[in-house]
Order: sequence, then C-alpha cells, then structure tokens
Amino acid sequence: MATGLNETVQDRIYLDYNASTPIDPEVLEEMLPFLTSYYGNPSSSHWASEKIKVAIDLARQRIGKLLDCKTSEIVFTSGGSESNNHAIKGSYFANRHRGNHIITTKVEHPSVLNPCVFLESIGTKVTYLDVDAYGLVDLSDLTAAITKDTILVSIMHANNEVGTVQPLQEIAQITSRRGIILHTDAAQSLGKIEVNWDEMNVNLLTVAGHKLYAPKGVGALIIREGTEITPHNHGASHEVGRRAGTENVPFIVGLGKAADIAHRRNDHQEIQTLSNLFWKKLSDAFKDRIVRNGHPEKRLPNTLNVSFIGMIGEEILAKIPEIAATTGSACHTGSIEMSPVLKAMKLSPEVAAGTVRFSIGRYTTENEIERACAMIIDRIRD
Ligand SMILES: Cc1ncc(COP(=O)(O)O)c(C=O)c1O
Repeated sequence: MATGLNETVQDRIYLDYNASTPIDPEVLEEMLPFLTSYYGNPSSSHWASEKIKVAIDLARQRIGKLLDCKTSEIVFTSGGSESNNHAIKGSYFANRHRGNHIITTKVEHPSVLNPCVFLESIGTKVTYLDVDAYGLVDLSDLTAAITKDTILVSIMHANNEVGTVQPLQEIAQITSRRGIILHTDAAQSLGKIEVNWDEMNVNLLTVAGHKLYAPKGVGALIIREGTEITPHNHGASHEVGRRAGTENVPFIVGLGKAADIAHRRNDHQEIQTLSNLFWKKLSDAFKDRIVRNGHPEKRLPNTLNVSFIGMIGEEILAKIPEIAATTGSACHTGSIEMSPVLKAMKLSPEVAAGTVRFSIGRYTTENEIERACAMIIDRIRD
C-alpha cells in the first residue's frame, strides 16, 4: 500500500502514527467529489444540497456504527482540540450553577489541560490527579478528589505518549452514580482498540480524524442524550444549534469513511504482533540498557515508548533521520525537560532523557520493523 510518505525517499520509515496517520486512499476517493462536484451548502433547501445532506447523514451513521452511539449524539468539529475545548468549557458553563470543581489528570493532552487552566483563571477549581509509574489513574484517588462541587471529570481513554489505557468503565461507575459529567478524550484509542460508547458509559467523547486515517482538521464530539453542555461556537443553527459554522463536508465525508473502514478492518492483533516483534528485537539487543514505558498490558497495541538508558532522545533521533518518531524529553543547554506525562509517571531524569516514542499503524510492514531495528541497533548500541 502506497502511503506516499515512505515512497519519496528510499529507506524512510514512518513510525509516528500517534502524531498523525496518512489518509486512507478509500477515504480520499470518497472525499474528492465533495471538493469538486458537490459544492452546495448543506443548509440550503434546493437540489444542490440534496446529495450533501445524504452524505453527512451517512457519515453520522458510520461513526454511530463504529462507536455504537446514536447519530443524534454526534457533533462534527474541527478536530480533537476543538472537541476537548467544547467538552470542558461547554460542560462547565452549562453546569456551573451546580458546582465549581473539575477533575482531570496530569497526563492529559494540552487540549484538555489548557482549557482547565483557562477555567482556573476565571475562578474554577481544578484537581489534576497523579498517575502511577505506568501512567494509570488510581480510582481511590479519583473518589477522594470528588466533592459536592464536582461537576465534570475528564480522563483520557489512551495516552498519546505511552499508550496506557485508563479504566473508563470503572471510572464511569464512580461518576454516574454521583451525577457528575464524564468526558473522555478518545483521540488515540478509536480505531486502535475497542471503543464502545454504551459500554464505556461516558457522557462526552472526543474523536480526532487524523489519528484514524481521515484528514487533519476534522473530528467529532459525541454528546450523550441529556448531557447539559453549552455551544462552544455561537452562530447559526448548524448541528442542531450545538456547533455553528457551515459543515466541512468533504472532511466529514472522509471521517465517516474512515470510521467505516475502522469498523470493518479489525487489525489490532496484526499491529500488536508487529509491535511485539519491534520490542523483542530492541530488548534483545539493548538488554538492561532499554526500558519500555507505559502499562505492560493495559496499553495501545501500536505504541512502543522506550527509554534508552544513558542516552539523549534528540541525539538518538539525529542518528536515525530516516525514521520518523518522537522523543519524550527535550534537552536545553544541558538540562533535561521531561514531557509532563513522563514527569507524572515519575521517570528519573536520566531514564526520561533517552525516551523515544515509536508508533506503528495500518501501513507498517514487518520489513520496515526489521529495517528500523537494524538501523537503531547499528547506530545506537555502542
Ligand atoms: C490524546 C490527544 N487528544 C487530542 C489531540 C488533538 O487532536 P487534533 O490534532 O485533532 O486537534 C491529540 C493530537 O495529538 C491527541 O493525541
């Protein structure tokens, strides 16, 4: 399968699927007519909007099928960041008469943390829960943090850096019986592991298109029926008044197709097998000079976050420029600035310094993993 990215320069290997995925060719194919032939406004009442309304409706049905949610619960957005902002600020503004306290964790994406910081600046109380060494939230910490003023809990499903998956069903048991809104950022988990809206029993769920082989700049916020949330974007009555702005039709069509493919494919085991091979080769070669970060079992199958002991992440990546991957720490004038996630997991600065996240996906081949490992071992081991 041609990803484009890997083809331009021979030997390039893309191992950064958690940062972004290529657009699936089937997704692109469905999108194209909506960039050319079907240009009408979905809100119009004449012939030029007919096909467009049908296409948006189909996208909703496909997302509904993947998540097992109602089509009426889906609001299209510009991506994961907007969905997270909408979920947090929208829940707060609609429910502040009930209380002034929000709970989240120290390992959330900045698009969750920064709306919380914004709300703190206008007087909201926010608790940032600690995590354990694997990046997991302790449910007794969550229970202890809840007060009569708690209106919202926002805990991500899977972490973008280390892949640790939080126990959302159990968290929902704690929040639902107290009438607290539960939001989860599922930007990284959807399409990689099972995400079932009803089983998870959250009130709000974030979807990001470009982690799911759809384009960048599209996403969704799933809002459970009955959840009070104010609109984030005010204007005309698009998305039944929940998000103003003429719908980004081609991208919504793309997101729908991506959901349809994710629903059909079910390649989690294949990806897990490649990721196991990757880890086996690296751990055999580096032995006690490498550690794997994140939970040993409760984690995304595609994410391999490792620390090369005694090394610096940026220097490692500089030695393997053919490989697209991400480091977990930045080195500034001799001091190490750990990512907030690694810091919350209490990695020592020495271990965190050599952290690299490799994340694989739909188009990663065994041959690419073999070649990537050979390059890493050859250039970094000694
Ligand atoms: C966990 C998580 N949430 C939210 C986002 C933001 O999504 P978007 O890039 O669509 O705004 C990302 C993207 O990196 C992410 O990894």
